[in-house]
Amino acid sequence: MPTVSNKGNKMPESPIRKLVPYAEEAKKRGVKVFHLNIGQPDIKTPEIVMQTVKKSTIEVLSYSRSEGSDEYRTKISNYYKQHNISVEAEDIIVTTGGSEALLFALGSITDFGDEIIIPEPFYANYNGFSVASGINVVPVVSKIEDNFALPPIENFEKLITPKTKAILICNPGNPTGYLYSKEEMQKLASLVKKHDLFLIADEVYREFVYDDGITHQSALSHFGLEDNAIIIDSVSKRYSMCGARLGCLVSKNKEVIKTALKFAQARLSPPTLAQIAGEAALETPQEYFEEVVNEYRNRRDTLIKELSKIEGVKVASPKGAFYCVVALPVDNAEKFAQWLLSDFHLDKQTVMVAPAAGFYSTEGMGTNQIRIAYVLKEEDLVTATRILKKAIEVYNSL
Ligand SMILES: Cc1ncc(COP(=O)(O)O)c(C=O)c1O
Repeated sequence: MPTVSNKGNKMPESPIRKLVPYAEEAKKRGVKVFHLNIGQPDIKTPEIVMQTVKKSTIEVLSYSRSEGSDEYRTKISNYYKQHNISVEAEDIIVTTGGSEALLFALGSITDFGDEIIIPEPFYANYNGFSVASGINVVPVVSKIEDNFALPPIENFEKLITPKTKAILICNPGNPTGYLYSKEEMQKLASLVKKHDLFLIADEVYREFVYDDGITHQSALSHFGLEDNAIIIDSVSKRYSMCGARLGCLVSKNKEVIKTALKFAQARLSPPTLAQIAGEAALETPQEYFEEVVNEYRNRRDTLIKELSKIEGVKVASPKGAFYCVVALPVDNAEKFAQWLLSDFHLDKQTVMVAPAAGFYSTEGMGTNQIRIAYVLKEEDLVTATRILKKAIEVYNSL
């Protein structure tokens, strides 16, 4: 009998998707499931994108250049300049989603057995991409009590070994909603420069920042990280275009781009039609973002207000993206999340959440935490938190 690889066996299941069969069963029993588990926005893709795709007259869906079309990359570089990120088309490699940009980044800068330091909790697929790349994640714990602020820089420094190649941050953060301040970015910048490390900055939620006077600090804006920074980007959330599968890797480091291009050539081309859609997306009027950001801000405020009313629940206050980590007064959040789908409903309705343990790589962390994605309308969030409140009472009385 042929056997699968050890790497394949080590590959973690997605904590976001692994309860899906239980949700499907619940739906078959006629229970409505509120999906708070996955970052699939319910916001419409900009009209200009859909119109452009519908009107496209291309006759052959050919490959594009491996690094992405010139037209699209030039337009993306203009977008970055508007965000005080001074990059040119040649600094950009278009990828099949931010996911592929992460794989190319890790493939370009690490060898088997190397280490990357990541503040945890972190986007769960960083674990999977690291396993696929044969490297080890070294976590630095950030705590719900500190609102998931950047852990003290000494905590990072202690973990640096000859095998450390990079620090990976997600800003604004999935799953924490944390947004790094200018001072925090400066500290990280000094650290990576001092130790000759890369700083991989996953900025796919750049626009989703909610509080007055607080702005997003890109790793490539003004920290002198031209040699060190690699930005991971995506249209998935920005324009509600998850299914377009379009992202990019950005770096001013020519060696990184030259190396990433070889990975890009090996998979031939990013999606051609999606790049046409991506070009159109860059014409999206500013009002679209104002409306969307406003909508998410209201959802965040409503969700946090409603969650705070539940006894024993602790929630960090997210400043960006559209997620939050919530500590629940239950023995085990994964068991609870599964029970919500298989054994509980309130008037034929229940909720699906992502158990947060999968967003940590330290064994035993986050066992009583869940991640909530506030990708539903405010009234649905109110109903979902009401269901959650009742469910906690029932679960704890069993
Ligand atoms: C932090 C973060 N990075 C990267 C991705 C990958 O997104 P995509 O491959 O759709 O661009 C996601 C998707 O949820 C994400 O949350």
